Amino acid sequence: MADPRTSIISVRLSRISRIVAVSSGKGGVGKSLVATTLALTLAKKGCKVGLFDLDFTSPSTHLILGAANAQPTEDKVLIPTIVEGLKYMSLIYYSGNQAAPLRGKDTSNALIELLAVTLWSDLDYLVIDTPPGIGDAMLDLVRLVPHIEFLIVTTFSQLAFETVKKQVCLLQELKVPIIGLVENMKMTSAKSVQQQTEALGIRYLAEIPYDHKLEAAIGNPEKLLATELAKKVEKIAQTV
Ligand SMILES: Nc1ncnc2c1ncn2[C@@H]1O[C@H](COP(=O)(O)OP(=O)(O)OP(=O)(O)O)[C@@H](O)[C@H]1O
Ligand SMILES: [Mg+2]
Repeated sequence: MADPRTSIISVRLSRISRIVAVSSGKGGVGKSLVATTLALTLAKKGCKVGLFDLDFTSPSTHLILGAANAQPTEDKVLIPTIVEGLKYMSLIYYSGNQAAPLRGKDTSNALIELLAVTLWSDLDYLVIDTPPGIGDAMLDLVRLVPHIEFLIVTTFSQLAFETVKKQVCLLQELKVPIIGLVENMKMTSAKSVQQQTEALGIRYLAEIPYDHKLEAAIGNPEKLLATELAKKVEKIAQTV
């Protein structure tokens, strides 16, 4: 029998115009920072925005927002809390600061549960921070979240980009919309990632330089929005 929660998920997400998963086949490329900054930037522009941290491996948007103590409200469903003008929900509220060593089916089950119990209000955008990789978590999101679109993050390193290329091809095969690709932590002027991205028929949205000042902005959204990364994300926000 089909899991009854999967049909509830469409209802829970039905009041959201655009659902954007910030994703990468590779870990540590800046997904969480790009996702959080994109959500803050869209909200600053006047859009109604939600941020959903679904990174089962290392939820971190609560740290970037300085919102470790914020809590959703329980009312049969979970109502996202408001942080910096964003509707905010993270699986950290489930796992606390413990590691959540979920395996295979348990991860799918937890993802279904979170999507099914969280009630989002009318939103222009829901930005989802995702775990790294092109395995079950990504495929579950594609399967479960109607109208999901992907914003892909890579670094300039061929090691990251090789995996990201596989991810792009897989999403293209699955006919999942890709908004475009961001090249983060750029330290050279090489155009190779841009050229290869465009050769795949994907929009190259921006290059974001490596920014030594970024670490000091973690936990402080105002400082974050003043960084080089935020300036680039602002341009991306105009085109998504
Ligand atoms: N443009 C940048 N300049 C300097 N440091 C950066 C930049 N982007 C991200 N970082 C740093 O790189 C590290 C990884 O960033 P982040 O946690 O956002 O990546 P992630 O892709 O979400 O990682 P994970 O795969 O573990 O979820 C962090 O320490 C972050 O501060
Ligand atoms: Mg992350």
